[in-house]
Amino acid sequence: MRRLLRRRPALGMALLSSVSTAVGIVIVLAIDWFPVQASTAAPQIDTLWDVLMIASVPVFVLVMAVALYSVFAFRAQPGDLSDGEPIHGNTRLEVIWVTIPFIMVSALAVYGWIVLDDIEAKQTDPLIVNVTGQQFAWRFDYPDEGEVKSTQLVLPKDRDVEFRVNTDDVLHDFWVPEFRLKTDAVPGLTTKIRLKPSRIGEYDVVCAELCGIGHSTMRSGVRVVTPEDFDAWIASEQQSETDGGAAAAGGDEAAAGKQLFTETGCNACHTLADAESASAIGPGLDDLAANAETRGTQNEQSPEEYVKTSIEDPGAFIVPDFNDGVMPGDYGEQLSPEELDTLVKYLLGVSGEEKP
Ligand code: CUA
Repeated sequence: MRRLLRRRPALGMALLSSVSTAVGIVIVLAIDWFPVQASTAAPQIDTLWDVLMIASVPVFVLVMAVALYSVFAFRAQPGDLSDGEPIHGNTRLEVIWVTIPFIMVSALAVYGWIVLDDIEAKQTDPLIVNVTGQQFAWRFDYPDEGEVKSTQLVLPKDRDVEFRVNTDDVLHDFWVPEFRLKTDAVPGLTTKIRLKPSRIGEYDVVCAELCGIGHSTMRSGVRVVTPEDFDAWIASEQQSETDGGAAAAGGDEAAAGKQLFTETGCNACHTLADAESASAIGPGLDDLAANAETRGTQNEQSPEEYVKTSIEDPGAFIVPDFNDGVMPGDYGEQLSPEELDTLVKYLLGVSGEEKP
């Protein structure tokens, strides 16, 4: 057997390669690589992936077959210390192994470019959604839908959407795996994603760029709904923003404060039962009133001053077991002085209430 294989190495390698290639292609096509397809770009991208797999398997198998076959068929006999035949090169072989990969890679590049060009094509009258990344939360606003702002993304099915992605601080990456598309949020740039949601459902928005200590928790949700539900959601968001404003104007500071807490994204990092947030990236705020009393006194600050300073200048007083530099330092600029007061009062108020 071994003698036959040594005499006809090409035949042996070809046999081994074709059997393994067939098996390999069946396996890669049978694997369920991706989550459900929720945008019109997803089928094209998944097909591109399948084509890449079908093109890669034979190359991988051929290289492995030649290597394994050679190790087996041409291994030295025990006690044989002689050198192999001197080989200088093989021009024909070299031309072949440069030409074939060149043609394959070029063809795949052209195919990839055609798919990308199609996915990124300009849309007529898209829904514009501004996406802002910040350590460690996403914010969304709908400039053409009455300036609605939200920490949850809601999209109508079957409508073109253009995401304009920005960041307040470092690099992030806006990604919804079910949509298959993602783009970096780059300081000083607006990057874009165009797509059309094609499946009703709830999916995750994740950050796909290591952006700091809370990177893995930088998640939000996207809900794809019917156009009617979308309009209803926009209307209710507009209403609640009006209510929030009216609450502040009408003296309902607690409601206004709670709205500021979620709208600003505090809920992404801090636990606060009243606002139904449960993240532990930053100190929990359910006992803030008592803590602000103690720690404020230690730092010769009133509880109000202590909380206000902690929002404006997060590095001023570091709570034990938490690190400096995690909380963004620009909330003092994002919030107006009145909003800051409302937020401080709200936080001290809800955390100071008698707990049942
Ligand atoms: Cu933002 Cu990772």
